[in-house]
Order: sequence, then structure tokens, then C-alpha cells
Amino acid sequence: MLKGKTILLGVTGSIAAYKAAALASLLKKRQARVHVIMTKNAAQFITPLTFEELTGNRCVVDTFDRNFTYQVEHVALAKQADLAVIAPATANVLGKLAWGIADDMLTTTLMACRCPKLAAPAMNTAMYENPVLQDNLQRLKEYGWQLMEPGVGRLACGDVGAGKMPEPEEILAYIEQELAYEKTLAGKNILVTAGPTQEALDPVRYITNHSTGKMGYALARVAALKGARVTLVSGPTALKAPEFVETVPVTAAREMFQAVTERSARQDMIIMAAAVADYRPRQVSDEKIKKKDSSLELALEKTDDILKYLGEHKQPGQLLCGFAMETQNLLRNAREKLVNKHLDMIVANSLKVAGAGFAGDTNVVTLITNREELPLELMTKEEVAAHILDKLLSM
Ligand code: CTP
Repeated sequence: MLKGKTILLGVTGSIAAYKAAALASLLKKRQARVHVIMTKNAAQFITPLTFEELTGNRCVVDTFDRNFTYQVEHVALAKQADLAVIAPATANVLGKLAWGIADDMLTTTLMACRCPKLAAPAMNTAMYENPVLQDNLQRLKEYGWQLMEPGVGRLACGDVGAGKMPEPEEILAYIEQELAYEKTLAGKNILVTAGPTQEALDPVRYITNHSTGKMGYALARVAALKGARVTLVSGPTALKAPEFVETVPVTAAREMFQAVTERSARQDMIIMAAAVADYRPRQVSDEKIKKKDSSLELALEKTDDILKYLGEHKQPGQLLCGFAMETQNLLRNAREKLVNKHLDMIVANSLKVAGAGFAGDTNVVTLITNREELPLELMTKEEVAAHILDKLLSM
């Protein structure tokens, strides 16, 4: 997702410097070009060789390295970078950057960077809370820096408080938010539903389905990466709430109906990717259902069709998209749902094709609108999400 992007990673002298290796590795896995510049102090904690092995690029430590011409090098790296990130960022380097001190390769290069700049502070809690440091952070914000909040926890010095370097995955999420996609959905409000719902039979048991929520989470995440303001209404899943998305957890279809309909009026697009349980027990038993009672018959009723309700109460200009999970007559049934539920698009999702369906990271779908039918080949759920959003935007 970061293919073709160049990231300048600045590493400074904090014990958290070792975590920068994990960040460099994550960036490489996302196919970014990574150039690392370390301060001399950082090189006390982790060796340049580690970064050279991970990035395939020379790791620069000192301005006065004699093996290359530094004046050219620092400007060249600054020009190439699509984003500069300092992780970990010490109080010392943040202070220098806030006041324009450029006395080593890292600070000199950052002075020459016009690209977006991000810092992930890491230090002792007392240092972080020091008003001088706080003033410097404020100054950096005014100069356009993005500053991540340090994590709270037990620090290397034994103190407990704010100062932990944010985890590499979180830093990656910030970088992707900045660079991964063009912001074609800026200014749009998008609501996505995901996951299964659980319909209680008694305090212990429930009816549900095999949905993992992966497709809906991919949609929410990609919509946010494309600049939309995203609300994710999610049934119970094992997935981590995506960054830069407002996640509303729900359990039963009734709660999902409530959560969606109270937010639906202000949405430009609504995408129902949730596998809402079709039935719920007419009455939830107060007692646990006795296993021994084999003659027990459950009275079931249909859950409210959220999508149908949304179709019947559509706001002017609002786009509504549903999913159709079918085992047979996929396209015909999907087209029927498109018409019956007054949708602008339906994503037909076969449960029979290899690489498609609930659990995996890939999907095979056909996008159906009133005018066309667009079969997509096997691709990751994230790529499917990008296609769905692009198609909706073009309508
Ligand atoms: N859906 C919904 N509320 C329900 C059931 C489904 O909003 N109570 C939505 C799903 O999120 C999906 C679309 O409707 O986007 C189609 O869901 P699906 O289960 O395939 O279709 P149903 O309309 O429930 O019909 P059937 O199960 O009979 O195929």
C-alpha cells in the first residue's frame, strides 16, 4: 500500500530505538522505500547495520561521514522523502527541531524536508510533562508537525506514566493515513456495518453466523484512508478497531438497527457489510435452556431488515450499498435484493468460490448497480474495498 513511497525514518537516542527496527520492517513489508538516519546516541542503542539489513539502504549516522558528500546527501534525502517520521523522538531532538538547531545529519535533513513530518515521542514521564518540552511540542504543531501521543505504561526507567513510544503498528497507521491513498473521499460521511450479530436465546446461548467482519473492517479502514469521516457499527468480532474510525460496538440486530438509523440521516454513503442474523428468538428465556429437554421448540421471528429500512428512508443524494451472500443463483438473487431494498449498489459475494467468503483475507465479488455488472477477480479484501468505494464515488 505504500508502494513507490519514500519514507525517511529518523531514529534518536532512546531505549525505544529498538522498536524502530520493527517499524522499518513493517514499512518495507508495505513496499515503501525506507531511508534511516540515526543520531550518534541512537547508535548506542541499536546498530546502523540492523537498519541496513532491514531496508536495503545505507543507514546514515553522522553529517561528517567521509564516505560520501554530506551537503548533497542531506538535501537529496529530504527531496526524495514523501514523509519523514522520527521514532523514537527524544526531548533533545524535539527541542532542536522546535528551535531550528541543525547540528547533525538528522536535524539538518529535517530542516530541508518539505514533506509531511511526524514524530513519536518517547521519554521518561517527568521529561514528557516538563513545560519546556510541552511548549516545544506546541511550537512543532504550529510548524505543521504531526505529533503522536506517547503510550502510558511501565517505562524502561521503572516509572509508570506517559512516555512509551507508540507501537510500530500505530505509527504505521499514521503513515498510511497520510500517504496510502489519494483523499478522494474527503468531506464525505460514510457509515459501514460489519461482523455478525448475536441474538440471545438465554443468558448463555445465542444465534449467530460465521461472519468475521474482515470485509466491513477493510471498507471502514480504506474509506478513512481515502479521507472520509467513517463510522463503523460492528457486531462482535475478534478484530482490532481500525485507527481514524469511530467504532460503535453492538451485539444484536436490534441494537445495530438503532445504532445505524440514529446516524443514517447525516451519511453520504451507507454500506451494510454486516451479516445480520436473519432470525431471533421471539422471547429470550430467563433460565438457561436445559440441554436435557430435547423436545424444546424455539419460536423464532425475523430480525428487522436494516438495509430495507434504509432504502425506504433514503436521504436525497445518499448512496446505499448492500452485500448479498448466496450459495446459489448468486447474481439473480443479488439483483433482486438491489431492486427490493432500493439500493444503489449490491456486492454479490459467492460463498462457493475458492478465495471468497467470510474468514479469509481475499474475496471474489461482482459489483452490481442498476446499470452494470462488474465482476472483480480474486483480490485482497482491502483491494475489494477500494473498488467498492471508487465505484460508489463515481455514481
Ligand atoms: N441485512 C440487513 N438486515 C437484516 C438482514 C440483512 O440490513 N435483517 C442486509 C445485509 O447487511 C446485507 C443485505 O441485507 O447487506 C443482504 O443480506 P442477506 O442476508 O444476503 O439477505 P436477506 O435480505 O437477509 O435475504 P436472505 O437471507 O433470505 O437471502
